[in-house]
Amino acid sequence: MTTEAERRAALEVAGYNLFSLRAIDVLIDLLTDSGTGAMSRDQWAAIQHGDESYAGSPSWFRFLDSVQELFPFPHVIPTHQGRAAEKILFSVIGGRGKIVPNNTHFDTTRANVEATGAEAIDLVITEGRDPSTLHPFKGNMDLDGLGKLLAREHENIPVVFVTVTNNSGGGQPVSLENLRGVRALCDHYHVPLFLDACRFAENAWFIKEREEGQSERDVCDIVREMASLADGMTMSAKKDGLANIGGWLAMTDGDLAQRCREVLILTEGFPTYGGLAGRDLEAIAQGLHEVVNHDYLRYRIESTAYLGDALVAAHVPVVQPTGGHAVYIDARSLLPHIEPLHYPGQALAVALYEAGGIRSCEIGTVMFGMRPDGVEVPAALDLVRLAIPRRTYTQSHIDYVIEVCRDVASRASELVGYEITEAPPSLRHFTARFAPLRR
Ligand code: F0G
Repeated sequence: MTTEAERRAALEVAGYNLFSLRAIDVLIDLLTDSGTGAMSRDQWAAIQHGDESYAGSPSWFRFLDSVQELFPFPHVIPTHQGRAAEKILFSVIGGRGKIVPNNTHFDTTRANVEATGAEAIDLVITEGRDPSTLHPFKGNMDLDGLGKLLAREHENIPVVFVTVTNNSGGGQPVSLENLRGVRALCDHYHVPLFLDACRFAENAWFIKEREEGQSERDVCDIVREMASLADGMTMSAKKDGLANIGGWLAMTDGDLAQRCREVLILTEGFPTYGGLAGRDLEAIAQGLHEVVNHDYLRYRIESTAYLGDALVAAHVPVVQPTGGHAVYIDARSLLPHIEPLHYPGQALAVALYEAGGIRSCEIGTVMFGMRPDGVEVPAALDLVRLAIPRRTYTQSHIDYVIEVCRDVASRASELVGYEITEAPPSLRHFTARFAPLRR
């Protein structure tokens, strides 16, 4: 527990950047759902089986079997987390003049594309850009926009990406029908399709619940169909791998896999462990069995919706419908008196910490407003994400979060904007320092 005065002091030291707080000063940590979940008894037991052989460890084969049971790609390349998979793939297929379309790039994905000199383009459907519009699959790719881009630029497009669920757009799912549409366009232009599959199980659960004809299917089946529509994937096992660390890159194309493995050996490690210990491979292998369990997924999606529904009932504007791993407050709409370049999302995130010790994450103009050419523009949305670690918090913790959100929303008009006083050129949200503007 901390007092409000202690939190105000901590904020000042941190330059009003919640990434710079000491976690010990945070009461409820909703910064991310990445690597922050609780591992199960069976995962901890699996860790005791970790075999640390440098090459060809039995733990590697258990990992490989678990991955391929859901994603039967012939080439699986383990990495220490998702962005390492992205870095390897884009350093091989990216480069100046190339274009990578995605429904919405996550921040590190965009940064890894742009670091090679390529351009990252977001093409989510129109409904996905409007927080209040209801649509069962707000993460869907805009097929019309993608078709036009491919017609014009297909020779410069090394891959089309679909992120499931669409994290930066509100944790919203993508339908099988939409994936089939993307597949057809990719086939027509002979461009490979990759999934950014971090939250594949949550996406598959939404397909089961919301897509016509899917309700009787096993989630594993749906996941395999998603995989069958793609030529490869990047994955962070810190999300739907239910592990604290890990990831992989997988694909059908053997030549591409060979080039990726060469980079892997330089940067991550030997191809049967990537950047991971044998025990990490075991934890992921077991996590992949647990994450597709229907009871687990029902708990997961319903407990996220519990927070979303309570905020809707309290008239706090949130992205609707509630996504899989997080509730996203629409800070631009809650704080209309703070213009986007004064970071309404940052203002709200700081206020939630000050009022209740809750750490959230701005997903808006701080994260996405700086273009590679150095010009700052408002992001499409200014959101504050309350990401829910898996199997970690109880309903009473979440009831406390609801109380704090209600309290801050009731005095929204008193919050002030921020300016950035120090920032690195790329991925500035992690380390920037801020100062509150005077009223
Ligand atoms: N893709 C998506 C959609 C993600 O959400 C993340 C991470 C990554 C790729 C990169 O994976 O962290 O293992 O390197 N998202 C976390 C988040 C950090 O808070 O949403 P990583």
